[in-house]
Amino acid sequence: MQAYEVPRAPNQTVLDLVTWVQRHLEPDLGYRYACRVGMCGSCAMMVNGAPRWTCRTLAETAAKAGALEIRPLRNLPVVKDLATDMAPFFDKWRRADGKFHGRAAQDFAAIAMDAPGRAEASAGIECIGCGVCYAACDTVAALPAYLGPAALNRAWTCLNDAREAAPRRHLAAIADQAVLCHGQENCSAHCPVGLDPAGGIFGLKRALLFGGNV
Ligand code: SF4
Ligand code: FES
Repeated sequence: MQAYEVPRAPNQTVLDLVTWVQRHLEPDLGYRYACRVGMCGSCAMMVNGAPRWTCRTLAETAAKAGALEIRPLRNLPVVKDLATDMAPFFDKWRRADGKFHGRAAQDFAAIAMDAPGRAEASAGIECIGCGVCYAACDTVAALPAYLGPAALNRAWTCLNDAREAAPRRHLAAIADQAVLCHGQENCSAHCPVGLDPAGGIFGLKRALLFGGNV
C-alpha cells in the first residue's frame, strides 16, 4: 500500500483521483478504464472495502474520514497494481453457456412487452460485465470454481429469451452451480446498474426444481 495526498475538487470521482495520482505522482501505476461514463465496465476496484465502478463513484461519497483505500477487484488475479485479470471471470460466462443459440432460419422476432420472460431477459441483458458482483460474492471467495453471479445472470437471461433455441442447454450448464449460492444477495446489493443477479439465481433454482423457466 502507498499513501498519497490528492487535491479535492467538486464532483470528483474515485477514477479522477486514481488518474491524478498516475498523471502527477506514479506514471507507471497500473489501472484500467475506457468510457468514464458507466458503460464499459472496466474501471471497477475495491474502494474502502466495497467493490464499485470508480468512474461513477463520487470521492466525497465513498471517503471515510477524508481517506480512500483503493485496492484491485477482489476474487480475481492481479495483473499490476489496480488492474485485475478478467479472464477467469469471462471464462465462467463460457462455462455457463452464456451465449444465445438461434435457429437457422429465424424471422425477425417481435416479442411483446408483456410476454412471459420478457422482463427478466430485458433486465439481465443490461449487464456491463464489470465484475463488481463477482468481487462482492463470498461464495466465489470460498469456492473459486463457483461460476458466480454474473455468469449465472447471463444464463438466466438466455433462458428467458423467447427466441432462444436451446434453453435446456443453459440449465444443464449451470445445474450443479446455482445450488451453491447461499442467497446472501451481496451481488444485487452492489451491482452498479441495479441488476438483480441473486433474483436470477433464485429463478434458476426454481427452473431446476420445477423443470421450466418459472
Ligand atoms: S450483474 Fe451488475 S455487477 Fe455483475 S457484472 Fe453485470 S453489471 Fe456488473
Ligand atoms: S470507465 Fe467505463 S464503466 Fe467506468
